[in-house]
Amino acid sequence: MSYDVIVIGAGPGGYVCAIRAAQLGLKTAIVEKRGTEKGALLGGTCLNVGCIPSKALLHASELFEEAGHGFKAMGIEVPAPKLDLKTMMGHKQEVVDANVNGVSFLMKKNKVDVHYGAGKILAAGKVEVRDAAGKASTLETKAIVIATGSDVTPLKGVEIDEKTIVSSTGAIALDKVPERMVVIGAGVIGLELGSVWRRLGAKVEVIEYLDRILPGMDAEVAKQSQRLFEKQGISFRLGAKVTGATKSKKGVSLSVEPAAGGEAQTVEADVVLLAIGRRPYTEGLGLEAAGVTLDQRGRIPTDKHYRTSVEGIYAIGDVIAGPMLAHKAEDEGIAVAELIAGKAGHVNYEVIPAVVYTYPEIASVGRTEEELKEAGVAYNVGKFPLTANARARANRTTEGFVKVLADKETDRVLGVHIVAAGAGELIHEAAVLMEFGGSSEDLARTCHAHPTISEAVKEAALAVEKRALHV
Ligand code: FAD
Ligand code: NAI
Repeated sequence: MSYDVIVIGAGPGGYVCAIRAAQLGLKTAIVEKRGTEKGALLGGTCLNVGCIPSKALLHASELFEEAGHGFKAMGIEVPAPKLDLKTMMGHKQEVVDANVNGVSFLMKKNKVDVHYGAGKILAAGKVEVRDAAGKASTLETKAIVIATGSDVTPLKGVEIDEKTIVSSTGAIALDKVPERMVVIGAGVIGLELGSVWRRLGAKVEVIEYLDRILPGMDAEVAKQSQRLFEKQGISFRLGAKVTGATKSKKGVSLSVEPAAGGEAQTVEADVVLLAIGRRPYTEGLGLEAAGVTLDQRGRIPTDKHYRTSVEGIYAIGDVIAGPMLAHKAEDEGIAVAELIAGKAGHVNYEVIPAVVYTYPEIASVGRTEEELKEAGVAYNVGKFPLTANARARANRTTEGFVKVLADKETDRVLGVHIVAAGAGELIHEAAVLMEFGGSSEDLARTCHAHPTISEAVKEAALAVEKRALHV
């Protein structure tokens, strides 16, 4: 069979790329190795074991906590909620299945051929697909897009069994609430899934190598968020490294040392969640033989047009440089399809929002204060606390704040950081503003509906010129 484009990997990068390529009239196929006897399971890490199942559990566990602790203060008396974990996991699976089936439907609708099996690049223009039974076939194509995503970064001495020592994949499928959960890594996965199990009753401790949580995010945001998580009952051991894990009938004993060196301590847990990052996944793709080079971190280097070292072979998503985020992978998928079709595909890496879906949510777009300082950019800061927002008071969600960073000379908005219930939705007005090169004055002069939590974003913009109204 012969195609214009073959995409290897049906995650958010790959399947969106396939849709866009088909929309542009290219004969397109997608190769995916995740599946069952019934065929390929599309959607990648994100739909099957990542973004979607984790958000289903975050939402359900947030409601569980609200029913147990939030209702009374608003005059709603209900008996203490009882957890039915099996049904909660069933809800998660239903959401996953609906989304995964939805992608299959989209492939059919757009006339994209799905080939179920492991893809291997034999050379530019040639992809071998090997099915679960080991039967191989070869497909021909003008362009190949590698979208094989990423996998869990392992830690020496801490072997994942997905039962007592779990990655995120095991942590979204536990069959009972652990009494004590230790999370290694205070990044996005650690905080989101740590929050889920804390809400459902586990005692959660997070061990982090650095002396702060959420590296890469604005330091003030990370510090305030840590305080809020601590108030909720999550404890943090910062500046500490896990050097080994021993399993026993009672659980897992972790050996923990100060990151800077010193005496080891033992920390006991029923379940350990290892979440120290993810690494690009290129196993079995035949890259070396095909001449596609990797960088030192195992990523596939590309130019601005997503071209690898071999003509006709492109790469996008988690397998290349940049934030490992579904929407970044999707936008690259669109851009590369447009470029292959001879159009002007482009991703603006200055404006990629990032959201941590905890309570409150933590969202950011653009630069942090630390990045601006390091780059020597002079800036003004406007901040507004949620305690001063009427709607947040009405909703009893007054934790958090909004911070707007604007260029001192031009007033152009360079970064917006939000800690708030619903921050993941609020951040997009800042993203649109920044995409159009808007200023803090533009944001401050935009009429915002009252009473909304979005007004806190407007107030933070007003605060850049020291003229916030409600503080
Ligand atoms: P992937 O989604 O990893 O898809 C790659 C696909 O390629 C896989 O299906 C794999 O089976 C297939 N594949 C690999 N090799 C081959 C081969 N040789 N042949 C055929 N198929 C192959 N991001 C967000 O933006 N928001 C979130 O809320 C979020 N939550 C997350 C929660 C968790 C627990 C995890 C683990 C990740 C989360 N992410 C989130 C990150 C997000 O999942 C990734 O950034 C995104 O899935 C990357 O998309 P991708 O298309 O590059 O790769
Ligand atoms: P991460 O990179 O967000 O965090 C890993 C943390 O582990 C860091 O704080 C790091 O300093 C720490 N660490 C590294 N080595 C360590 C060690 N040996 N001991 C203790 N701590 C150590 O990675 P995470 O949380 O595993 O997530 C992986 C990727 O998935 C992220 O890049 C993220 O982009 C993506 N993701 C995105 C989500 C979202 O957008 N809401 C949700 C979940 C994952």
